[in-house]
Amino acid sequence: MKKSIPDFEKMKRAGEKISMLTAYDYPSAQLVEKAGVDMILVGDSLGMVVLGYDSTVPVTMEEMLHHTKAVCRGATQTFVVADMPFMSYATLDLAIQNAGRLIKEGGADAVKLEGGYHLVPIVQALTRAGIPVVGHIGLTPQTASQLGGFKVQGRDLDSAKQLVEDGQSIEQAGAFLLVLEAIPRQVAKQISLERKIPTIGIGAGPDCDGQVLVFHDLLGLFERFKPKFVKQYAQLGHDAVQAIQGFHEEVKSSIFPAEEHTFGLSNEVIEKLYGDK
Ligand code: KIV
Repeated sequence: MKKSIPDFEKMKRAGEKISMLTAYDYPSAQLVEKAGVDMILVGDSLGMVVLGYDSTVPVTMEEMLHHTKAVCRGATQTFVVADMPFMSYATLDLAIQNAGRLIKEGGADAVKLEGGYHLVPIVQALTRAGIPVVGHIGLTPQTASQLGGFKVQGRDLDSAKQLVEDGQSIEQAGAFLLVLEAIPRQVAKQISLERKIPTIGIGAGPDCDGQVLVFHDLLGLFERFKPKFVKQYAQLGHDAVQAIQGFHEEVKSSIFPAEEHTFGLSNEVIEKLYGDK
């Protein structure tokens, strides 16, 4: 059965870790649901691991909607969070309109936004409108260039304090879950202990209330780069190339298709068609 927001709060209180994994289409969503993962994120990492962009910045609302719909068709029994793409929540009006589309048209259960205290009015407006919100602080890829690139955040005193305050602001504004990306484990632990809402870490150490990874990273399907926090549980990219090479070689050597992959005619029809030739 699909877990709900109160279920995630209960899991935090009971010390039960929450698993979250990204998915971007019908088959990946089916696999994640079959594996029993608690929550799916249709991340805007879509742009990098599926659409081949250099960053998450070019991802559009239409792309997020298209993929969110497919994920929701594939995982009907799993809580789905959809990322709001860059600039889709730049104003209150835009945020409400676009978040509403991800829920109403896309079928998502919640939306995720990147940023700290400056997002408070937007998180408040969305939650007041009845849209469940997930916060995302630390390394926020949509604004990575302002942060000096894809770097660990919160390493000095001021920025560590800022992260702790950001977590508090986002919870008080109404978010029900908080993603912590690429921050020191001690800062993530403090935020997780101080906040009532569950924290989900990615590169934030083991003391978060749950963990999220990108589908293609976990399965070894994304080979452009591998951040330190990624654990590859399989090398499917390698296996896929081997399988495709097998097909290519068998076509060249006429091994594929074999008899069992081939349709034929009955002797009677063959006789009638070609008997007099
Ligand atoms: O887009 C994404 O996949 C994310 C995760 C890395 C948390 O935001």
